[in-house]
Amino acid sequence: MPIQWFPGHMAKARRQVTEKLKLVDIIFELVDARLPISSANPMMHEIIHQKRRVLILNKADMADPSMTEKWLAYYEKQGIRAVAINSKDGQGLHKLTKAAQAEMSEKIERNRLRGMKPRAIRAMILGIPNVGKSTLINRLVKKNITQTGNRPGVTKAQQWIKVGKELDLLDTPGILWPKFEDSDVGFRLALTGAIKDDILDLTEVAEYGYDYVGAFYPTFLTDYLGTEEPLTGKEMLERIAKNRQLMDEEFIDYSRAAEHFVRDFRALKMGRVTLDRPDEYEEVATSEPS
Ligand code: G4P
Repeated sequence: MPIQWFPGHMAKARRQVTEKLKLVDIIFELVDARLPISSANPMMHEIIHQKRRVLILNKADMADPSMTEKWLAYYEKQGIRAVAINSKDGQGLHKLTKAAQAEMSEKIERNRLRGMKPRAIRAMILGIPNVGKSTLINRLVKKNITQTGNRPGVTKAQQWIKVGKELDLLDTPGILWPKFEDSDVGFRLALTGAIKDDILDLTEVAEYGYDYVGAFYPTFLTDYLGTEEPLTGKEMLERIAKNRQLMDEEFIDYSRAAEHFVRDFRALKMGRVTLDRPDEYEEVATSEPS
C-alpha cells in the first residue's frame, strides 16, 4: 500500500537505507518503466553516495516497448547501466547478475590482482513504494518470504537470498519516497497507482491521463472510447458516465467516471503507455557522479 510521506518518515527511511548500504556492494534501483524519472527518488545520488548502481526498469510489460528502448539508450548515453525487466512473470531477471558483475568489474579485477578469493556480489533493492520491489524479491526467492518479516516485537536479522552463486540479495528492500515537486510527476504517479488515490483529485488525474494519451497515443484513445470525435476531458468523462450508467437526468457522476478511466488505464485498456519521455529530460541526468 502506498505510504503517505512526511519529513519524519523520510528521515527514518533514509536512516534505514544508509544502515543497509553498509552491507552491500551495489544497489538495484527499481523504477517503473512507464515513468523512470518520475518514479525515482529525488535524492538517490546523495543517499547512495558513491555506491555502484544498476537501474532496473521494472513493469516493462506495461510500458510502451519502443519508449523502453529509447530509455535504455538514454541511460547508456548517460553512462548509467540500466536493464528492463518484468518481475511479475520473471522476464529478464537473468540480466541482473550480469549487470551487477559488469558494474563491479573493476573492483572484482582489483581484488583478483590482490589475490583475494572471489565472493558473491552483495546487492540490495531500493525504490519508492509500488515499483515492484517485493514482487521482484519474491520472484528471486520463488516463494513469499518478504511477507513474513516485520512482526511486532520480533527483531529480524537481515537475511540474504542467494541468486545463483554469484549474487547475494538482501531479503528486504530499501523504501524511499517519490518526487513531490512538480504536478506532472504527481499526476503520472497517481495514474499508475504509485501514490494513493486520495492525494490528488482523481478527476484531474483522469483528465491529465486523457490529454497525455490523446497527445502521444491518439489511436489508443479512439479505440478505447469508440470515437474519433475530439472531446474535452469533461466530455470524455461524460461519455464514460453515459456508457456505464453513471448518470441520470439530473446528475453526472464525474468522480466515478474518473475512477473508471484511471482503473482502465492501469489495466492497460488503452494499451501500453509510457508517461515519461526521454526528450523531456535530456539535461537532467548529466549530474550523475562518475
Ligand atoms: P513494492 O514492493 O515496490 O511496494 O511493490 P510490489 O511488489 O508490492 O508491487 C506493486 C504492484 O505492482 C503489485 O500489483 C505487483 O503485482 C505489480 N508488479 C510488480 N512488478 C510488476 C511487473 O513487472 N509487471 C506488472 N505487470 N506488474 C508488476 P498489485 O495490483 O498491487 O498486486 P497484485 O494484484 O499483483 O497482487
